Amino acid sequence: MTRRAGELQLSRYQNPGEVREKAPKDFVTEVDLLCEELMVNAIGERYPDDAILSEERGGSVSESGRTWLLDPVDGTANFMKANPMFCACVSVIEGDSVTHAAVAAPRLGDMYHARAGGGAYRESGGREARLRVSDTKRLEYAIAGADLPLHGGKPQDPGVDRVLFGAWQLRALGSAGIRGAWLAAGYLDVSVGTRNTAWDYAPTVLLVSEAGGRATDLSGEPWSLSSEGLIATNAVLHDEVLETLHSA
Ligand code: IPD
Ligand code: CA
Ligand code: CA
Repeated sequence: MTRRAGELQLSRYQNPGEVREKAPKDFVTEVDLLCEELMVNAIGERYPDDAILSEERGGSVSESGRTWLLDPVDGTANFMKANPMFCACVSVIEGDSVTHAAVAAPRLGDMYHARAGGGAYRESGGREARLRVSDTKRLEYAIAGADLPLHGGKPQDPGVDRVLFGAWQLRALGSAGIRGAWLAAGYLDVSVGTRNTAWDYAPTVLLVSEAGGRATDLSGEPWSLSSEGLIATNAVLHDEVLETLHSA
């Protein structure tokens, strides 16, 4: 299903269809809606009792059972410009635990997936490889990923600035899903997310943990659906990043 949404994205990235500004500087394309429909229908057919929370349609979280979190197109701003950094993100949660995650980045040719206790993997070019986070030991040598929405000119959280300026290099990919997958793959050492959109962060939580890293909220507590943000690292750097974030 995640793969099929990715195939749909691939067939339409040069033709995103109608584009609407659903909130200031927050766009939805016809393809976002088509991917969402594809995924919601696929879940409904196979798991009719499961709850679904999806970016464009909303939905609900199950109190006692499974909930699917869907980001039909993550990186819509990239998608609208045919920039390859977009993906479909799907995760399953039970309580606050992420049990399954998939990130399909079709223009990169990569499909990332993880199951709790089963490891994290990338399928690419017909081959599957197990993922392992980097072994970078100090923030000053880290490559950090974060999106900098610029807040309409307002300053960013000073703690986040300290982490990003304390790192060696910064990548702003425009896709929270790919950022998390790239951390799990060892391409990045630190990922900082400062929103509370669960469909963006849940895949990172599982992919990174299953690849040997750590993912928590901004205070170092376990990430949950109501967390305001996400710090994910290769585990070695986690304490240093949290200390830097809070060392006012
Ligand atoms: C956005 C992207 C972006 C991040 C935003 C997200 P969307 O998701 O992941 O990188 O900075 O916070 O909302 O809107 O393209 O699904
Ligand atoms: Ca998103
Ligand atoms: Ca989206």
